Amino acid sequence: MGNKKKANWTLIPGQPLTEMDKRILSFQERGKLCPSRELIKTPEQIEGIRKAGVLNTAVLDTVAEKIREGMTTEEIDRIVYETTTKGGGIPAPLNYEGFPKSCCTSINEVVCHGVPSEDVVLEEGDIINVDCTTILNGYYADASRMFVIGKTTPQKQKLVDVAWECLKIGEQVCNQPYVFVGDLGHAIEKHAHKNGFSVVRDLCGHGVGLEFHEDPEVEHRGARGTGMLLVPGMTFTIEPMINMGTWRVFVDEDDPYGWEVISDDELPSAQWEHTFVMTENGVEKLAW
Ligand code: MF3
Ligand code: CO
Ligand code: CO
Repeated sequence: MGNKKKANWTLIPGQPLTEMDKRILSFQERGKLCPSRELIKTPEQIEGIRKAGVLNTAVLDTVAEKIREGMTTEEIDRIVYETTTKGGGIPAPLNYEGFPKSCCTSINEVVCHGVPSEDVVLEEGDIINVDCTTILNGYYADASRMFVIGKTTPQKQKLVDVAWECLKIGEQVCNQPYVFVGDLGHAIEKHAHKNGFSVVRDLCGHGVGLEFHEDPEVEHRGARGTGMLLVPGMTFTIEPMINMGTWRVFVDEDDPYGWEVISDDELPSAQWEHTFVMTENGVEKLAW
């Protein structure tokens, strides 16, 4: 939010304008929100984030193999911790701003940031998001997937499928550089609404790579041509949270950690997340 008119892109004194400088300045002159140079990763940094992404994807693959009815979310957390650390990584959520576990496990009406627990057992018909972020050699990659436990209702299955389609539509909009975050947000929201669902507004995707959460904010709704310009070398997530009912969310006052986000009407919510790098030819997936 905010800083819409601030000139973020600056030139390097004494250096001739590159094609990229010219391209970005042309948007900046029209009042568009452009990235600062720090958001453009070097090829070496991108390789580091890619390696973190390979490990993070392997962790989610391991969760996919082992997740089943009757398991506690604490067991999922243990799988994530073991797989991440065996691969030489650190689970980024652990002790992040007071978060007590290695991943987020968000079931049914829990929108995101569900805290794994001994007391939460997976039941037939549950839909659960497992969100993992890995730090490897100082680089971060972030992804989440939905899992359906056994067979669920047609409505919950549709929610899971539409949330996946929303992510794929966001990815599709980013099939070339110099698109805006608002372009993908607009397309995602349109698809969710067409299916009778809503898009969570209070949480968004984000830059990622050198830190857990960087600029830009990647809202999954909005108007075309708004939000930050996405240029080659930027690394970020798309992670739409799609609700069956209202887009409004809350955190329970009695939540001991204050992390778990729940839909206001306590109807189900679904989310998928990938980490991407923008290239000259559009986005490439780094974690999924
Ligand atoms: N992985 C989440 C995201 O996609 C953030 C989780 S923060 C945590 O941005 F502390 F809950 F892990
Ligand atoms: Co994320
Ligand atoms: Co995540």
